[in-house]
Amino acid sequence: LAEIGEVCVAVDNLENARQISKATSDKGMKIDVLIEIDVGTHRCGLPPGKPVQVFAKELEKYRGLRIKGLMAYEGFCSHILDFKEREKACKVALDKAIQTRDLLLDSDINIEVVSAGTTGTYKICANHPGITEIRAGSYILSSATHKAISPEFEVAFTLLSTVISMPSKNRAIIDAGRNSISHDLGLPLVEGLEGVKLRSLWDEHGVLEIKNFDSKLDVGDKIELVPTHPCTTIGLHDKMFCIKDDVLEFVWDIKTRGKFF
Ligand SMILES: Cc1ncc(COP(=O)(O)O)c(C=O)c1O
Repeated sequence: LAEIGEVCVAVDNLENARQISKATSDKGMKIDVLIEIDVGTHRCGLPPGKPVQVFAKELEKYRGLRIKGLMAYEGFCSHILDFKEREKACKVALDKAIQTRDLLLDSDINIEVVSAGTTGTYKICANHPGITEIRAGSYILSSATHKAISPEFEVAFTLLSTVISMPSKNRAIIDAGRNSISHDLGLPLVEGLEGVKLRSLWDEHGVLEIKNFDSKLDVGDKIELVPTHPCTTIGLHDKMFCIKDDVLEFVWDIKTRGKFF
């Protein structure tokens, strides 16, 4: 891949770094790496400060790698609804990244990039001195939850489902369930139908509660659902239909479908 494009890999493990270095140096190449640091999300990443400095000194010995900078992921504060609270938590996290950068610069380790940012924190990152790269992603499509934290981005992504049963006048069943739309960030919303709410998701069924009896839903009707999490919904599908002004412009294959490695 590095032969045809610019590849930059996040690393936080010496054995993994050694393997990457061997693969690239065997081909006479070097690859850029960012050292991932844990600024509070407690996912991947080394603790900030000294452990990163010690790690970087070791990495410098690997011939196939070029240390380009640091990567921080402040995902733990991205969905805090109150902006001031989100900003406070995010700044504490970003300070840890910048202090670590300073420590590395003091030890003559090259740091060009300090990468951070999500859809909920991109503005805070953009105003934080020292952050050079923003990795916001969900904003491209947005969702019901992302709209709540960053309303400036339009939701550009819905799932089209069909009413398959009307067991009573206040209950409609659609053919979309957990196999077609995620609910890890909450139940999806029903688009454009006042008084109609998604109540529950089963594997291949969704149950709509109808409070507005004038909605006149019937079997065969199309229902658009607004996902609460694009990332975990997209991977459930083979294709995405891209529509502009009611005209189908593209059909994209979803390459990440079924991929977990
Ligand atoms: C490491 C990392 N950076 C950036 C992002 C982008 O965050 P968002 O989708 O909220 O824009 C993600 C999303 O999961 C992530 O895992």
